[in-house]
Amino acid sequence: MIYLTRKAEFSASHYYHNSELSAEENKRIFGKCNNPHGHGHNYVLEVTVKGIVDSRTGFVIDLKELKELMNREVIEAVDHRFLNKEVAEFQECQPTTENVAIFIWNRLQPKLHVARLHRIRLYETPDLFVDYCGEASLTRRYLFCASHRLHCDSMSAEENLAVYGKCNNPHGHGHNYALEVTVTGPVDPATGMVCNLADLDAFVNEKIVERFGHENLNTLLEFEGVVPTTENLCIEIYSILKGFPHAAIEKVRMEETALNSFEYAGGREIRP
Ligand code: NI
Repeated sequence: MIYLTRKAEFSASHYYHNSELSAEENKRIFGKCNNPHGHGHNYVLEVTVKGIVDSRTGFVIDLKELKELMNREVIEAVDHRFLNKEVAEFQECQPTTENVAIFIWNRLQPKLHVARLHRIRLYETPDLFVDYCGEASLTRRYLFCASHRLHCDSMSAEENLAVYGKCNNPHGHGHNYALEVTVTGPVDPATGMVCNLADLDAFVNEKIVERFGHENLNTLLEFEGVVPTTENLCIEIYSILKGFPHAAIEKVRMEETALNSFEYAGGREIRP
């Protein structure tokens, strides 16, 4: 099986409003996104299809056909549109990233035959995307900086230097950590969301960004007797975020530098 991904971009405006709720409730749940005049995004869409390579053409699918299908079924329907007012499906549900991804899946899935639809990934901003493949997951990206020193107390000074090299510098060194948090679960019909982004942001900011940002990780209780590698930081952050009450935390992904990244899903396999 070969997996093939085609990207597309579109821009669209939207707002969130549930007519069954009061004006105050709408404001509380959706915040600024409740502005009825709308606001817009440059969406980036990734469509992944899977299939067997045709022995004659060497293709899973003719990319020209996939591009035309995406243009016809998706881009023409949403590009430069006010989703609430101009796309019939969003009269019924909120045009959240989750529901726009599901809308795109529903448009493309019945039209693909040779290659089958594997996954829709839709970026609303570079810091927020949804994956949909029958189940929705939402990933949000956060940044914080911290310092650390890699040093294991049970190893000799020579051993520490051999294992950790420059990272064993007693004065420590720092990183701009990027943290991606993925939550999975049913899309709430009232809000169109896996969980309210405001709740997720408040939780991650309080428990992680405020806790670890601008700290020396070695001085924190969490790393007493634990080497503050990004592996251990991932495990610690995952276990803290498991306490999020509004949706299941599927995994965390951390970038320590642009070249190194780490993922942890509580010991489970990472889903493709
Ligand atoms: Ni928006």
